[in-house]
Amino acid sequence: MNQYSLIGPFKQLLTMTGMPIKGALQDSQLPIIENGGIITKGNEIYAVGHFSDLKKEARDLNAKTITIDSDLVCLPGFIDAHTHICFGGSRANDYALRNAGKTYLEIAQSGGGIWDTVTQTRKSSAEKLVTGIKDRANRHLHQGVTTIEVKSGYGLSVEEELKILNAIATANKAIAADLIPTCLAAHMMPNDYKGTPEEYLSEISTTLFPILKEENLATRIDAFLEEGAYSAISIAPYFKKAKEMGFDITVHADQFSTGGSAVAVEYGAISADHLEASTATEIQLLANSNVIATALPGASMGLGCNYTPARRLLDAGASVAIASDWNPGSAPMGNLLIQAAVLGTFEKLSNTEVLSGITYRAAAALGLEDRGKIETGFLADFIAFPTHNYKEILYHQGMLQPTMVWKKGRLVVG
Ligand code: NIG
Ligand code: FE
Repeated sequence: MNQYSLIGPFKQLLTMTGMPIKGALQDSQLPIIENGGIITKGNEIYAVGHFSDLKKEARDLNAKTITIDSDLVCLPGFIDAHTHICFGGSRANDYALRNAGKTYLEIAQSGGGIWDTVTQTRKSSAEKLVTGIKDRANRHLHQGVTTIEVKSGYGLSVEEELKILNAIATANKAIAADLIPTCLAAHMMPNDYKGTPEEYLSEISTTLFPILKEENLATRIDAFLEEGAYSAISIAPYFKKAKEMGFDITVHADQFSTGGSAVAVEYGAISADHLEASTATEIQLLANSNVIATALPGASMGLGCNYTPARRLLDAGASVAIASDWNPGSAPMGNLLIQAAVLGTFEKLSNTEVLSGITYRAAAALGLEDRGKIETGFLADFIAFPTHNYKEILYHQGMLQPTMVWKKGRLVVG
């Protein structure tokens, strides 16, 4: 079989190339190729340009031509840089209690919250967890999300965290989207642990971290820094150990109270996520660093609280990614495009800022340099929406769906 394919012409091809990683972006900066085409070579992008210019090259390569005969806007496959899609059970009761006026922390303290999901997840068989991840990831794929970060964190013991991370690895082999695993054993202090938070974290870092390395189960370590979860002081030796062992650090930071983003900057985290409570001080701190600020509008929508100050972060010069935080508690919706579009409306973001946040800036939040742009040598992950004008995508607030999705050069939807 010939490994080259020429795909196009797309009415508009948004390559997302040549734009800065940090700071505000205008729509005039958006790189658009009118009547664009892509030549793929196996699972990679071989060439990008005007469809008519690529035709001769495609003939010389003996490429198969896949002609698009309707108006489509093509852009890189979306990247969801923060999810918790490996879980058992439901937290519909929590949701109802919250809407009746109880706070997230009150519900957690009275037996609901993360611990409820830990209990449900521990009861789930590995097979059931794998099925849950696959179903959610495939739903995401149909909405154009070709790379999905997935956190553990509903196991909260060495054995149960391993069950989850193994389930993520098994699901990853069985689906088209790429799953990027993250160890979130520091999600909260397990209620059944007989010892201090420091002792729990020390056990995780000495016992679980080496297994993650040996079995290639995760290269990223996350922690929830918050009142009721972990403090800057308790997490310090844990992050130090993780860094020494070569893990990337990411932080659930400033969700309800501040402090987490300072820890993220101190430990050179790849991203600080949430930031709904960040003030001018934290915004400046992040803007002066290389930490990607990841907004999670799905959690704001799920909890009924304010959005991450994405406008102020971008204006201060920070890099902003946007992710779904898909989880059973605070963000049950799991629709990245709706959430990104809504964040854009509330935070007054340009189309380019929103689309960057779910493509190349989201790739940076995961430390992935091979995706998020349509560029030679990058993975052939791209999606096409049935419209002639890219502005229609966010205007429809997530209800305009991609009709074609390519993952590693293979048409997986359409
Ligand atoms: O990102 N903030 C902490 N962790 C998750 C919520 C998890 C849960 O409520 O189950 C979050 O919002
Ligand atoms: Fe989260």
